[in-house]
Amino acid sequence: MLNDDIEKVLITEAEIKYKIHELGGIISNEYSGKDLVMVSVLRGGVIFMADLVRSISIPVTIDFMAISSYGPSTDTSGVVRVLKDLEENINDRHVLIVEDIIDTGLTLSYLLRSLKAREPAGLDVCVLLDKSARRIVDLPIKYKGFDVPDVFVVGYGLDYRQKYRNLPYVGILNKSVYEEEWANL
Ligand code: PRP
Repeated sequence: MLNDDIEKVLITEAEIKYKIHELGGIISNEYSGKDLVMVSVLRGGVIFMADLVRSISIPVTIDFMAISSYGPSTDTSGVVRVLKDLEENINDRHVLIVEDIIDTGLTLSYLLRSLKAREPAGLDVCVLLDKSARRIVDLPIKYKGFDVPDVFVVGYGLDYRQKYRNLPYVGILNKSVYEEEWANL
């Protein structure tokens, strides 16, 4: 069912399911016999993480981080504040960062730098959506779900003012939703 605030469904629930099944198979093969720790970034990445781990057939440890950007969103330093760190020691283990979307790449670039310093045996990235048109820093993405154009996407973990994360698909948010709110500011 289409939410009234959604202009168009970009990626359907079935397409997401199929892709996750495919990614889960590849990850299970490539990490077979390795000590795999999947790390998701709160909050948006949690939905993808929850579905992805259930499509993985090898033993896996999951962990979470919460971070927030320092300063204005135009700041390109990529410095973020860690609100919640990992519980796990990742030294000598194979870490796979699971993200819902990579936009400018600043969040992930910080995370990669920060986790690399803990000397894991491997450090790779799995992202559901790649909005490469907005990229500021180039990043190595090992596993990718879909490319998305530079439009306002919500659903399947992605929000606008904390809403729409629970939509089972990825959709384009109707301009009227944010234009009305911004006009009233
Ligand atoms: C989103 C997303 C990534 C980040 C990507 O999180 O989950 O972590 O933005 O953007 P970037 O490539 O430009 O750094 P957000 O900060 O919106 O928080 P959320 O996960 O709580 O929605």
